[in-house]
Amino acid sequence: MQAVRIHRFGGPEVMAIEEIDRATPAANEVVIKVFAASVNPVDAKMREGKYPVVTEKDLPYVLGRDVSGEIAAVGSDVSGVTSGDKVFAFLSPEHGGYEEFVVADAKEVAAQPQALDAIGAAAVPLAGITAWQGLFDHGGLQAGQRVLIHGGAGGVGHFAIQFAKAKGAWVATTVSSSDKDFVTDLGADQVIDYKAEKFESVVEPVDLVFDLIGGETQERSFSVVKPKGALISTLQEPDKARAKKLNICAARYTAQPNGDQLREIAQLIDQGKVKVVVGSIFGLAQAAEAQSALKERHIRGKVVLKVVEQQQRPLVDEETIRQRAYQIWEDEGRPEGQELAHWYRAADATEVRYDFRRYRRNFVPTGSLVIKFYHSGDQIRGYVRKIADTDADDTIFPGEEMEPEAAFKLAAAHRASSNEPIYVELVERVEWNSEWGRLA
Ligand SMILES: NC(=O)c1ccc[n+]([C@@H]2O[C@H](COP(=O)([O-])OP(=O)(O)OC[C@H]3O[C@@H](n4cnc5c(N)ncnc54)[C@H](OP(=O)(O)O)[C@@H]3O)[C@@H](O)[C@H]2O)c1
Repeated sequence: MQAVRIHRFGGPEVMAIEEIDRATPAANEVVIKVFAASVNPVDAKMREGKYPVVTEKDLPYVLGRDVSGEIAAVGSDVSGVTSGDKVFAFLSPEHGGYEEFVVADAKEVAAQPQALDAIGAAAVPLAGITAWQGLFDHGGLQAGQRVLIHGGAGGVGHFAIQFAKAKGAWVATTVSSSDKDFVTDLGADQVIDYKAEKFESVVEPVDLVFDLIGGETQERSFSVVKPKGALISTLQEPDKARAKKLNICAARYTAQPNGDQLREIAQLIDQGKVKVVVGSIFGLAQAAEAQSALKERHIRGKVVLKVVEQQQRPLVDEETIRQRAYQIWEDEGRPEGQELAHWYRAADATEVRYDFRRYRRNFVPTGSLVIKFYHSGDQIRGYVRKIADTDADDTIFPGEEMEPEAAFKLAAAHRASSNEPIYVELVERVEWNSEWGRLA
């Protein structure tokens, strides 16, 4: 099987995609066939040899800490999961996620949220659990309390805003100016542009500061924590003496795998209380590029590696297939003499446009391609645009008033890479046409 490994510590050039043997699970473990793996800042720290848990003796080492996929094998003592189950997991450091099959402790694994595809599910575990443990286990955040989250538009931050809101807390967050609408849409009550404003001048005292930035941001945060409140960081250990003087609790923590917490997070996602935002998708062979993008480019939400090119099929319920079957039968002029099963098969086999997703305002990263379909007389036409930081700066590709199929082709031709998703926007009263296939 293929895996992305390092044989020495260093820059992105030390990462190599290699053929290695598949591991077999111990009694308490499972093997996951990986569909997608997420990319986190810690992966680059491990690659550089700056993460103390991974040392020379662990080399060669497979990078990556969280995955989605399906159970491929189960250890003898494991109950509650069986082969074929769709799962996601935050892995302990001895198991890498940038590979086609990964071994995981069964306690780290949970059923994937029904509402997500494999890419969305892979984006959740490490960042989601980090946000959960920081806010609730270490920060003790309660309903009705106030929290300031630094770095709210990133992988951990975008979950933290939504978890805190779901809990009933009031949320302030610091972000870049271009992310203000994005985090407002996630539910933030006060949004502060960290480059233009001093948060300590504009935020009323809070019960908790959740620090995803460190450095002087952390130092300045002491002044906004109420007495008996908390300053919790994912980065550096806060000044304990200063915390004691101010009568606040201050700590740094390392997130730990936890299948039970993943199940709680999955529930919030399936209830529609938490959205997962994937800012960029790369192939397994582009893992080095993906790590560099996370560090250097302004990416909203998460970066994910698509490990299996052909995703598992999206979940289509029986009722949808029935309606689609009926529609195809209608479109064919209601021919007699075919069994119902024939039309069901036809409905189930309609082409899926895996690269195309439904457009939702503020959830489309800058640089993405969007096809907008609208009514033009009695026909539906589309045009393609590239999203910029502000609507006025969007690039509109030539050839407005295109037929839908021409718009799909034009958008596909303008993608920066074959992994880049394309978003489809339908203006009011434009229905998705089954002849265009199905959106992934
Ligand atoms: N201890 C643990 O267990 C643990 C677990 C997970 C993560 N972490 C650490 O936590 C940090 C956050 O992780 P992540 O995955 O969320 O990273 P990320 O996805 O790279 O997000 C970082 C976000 O912070 C923003 N930002 C940068 N400087 C800022 C500032 N001064 N004020 C406010 N926002 C700022 C960035 O926006 P711009 O692009 O606009 O700068 C970006 O949106 C990382 O350093 C990571 O290593 C630790």
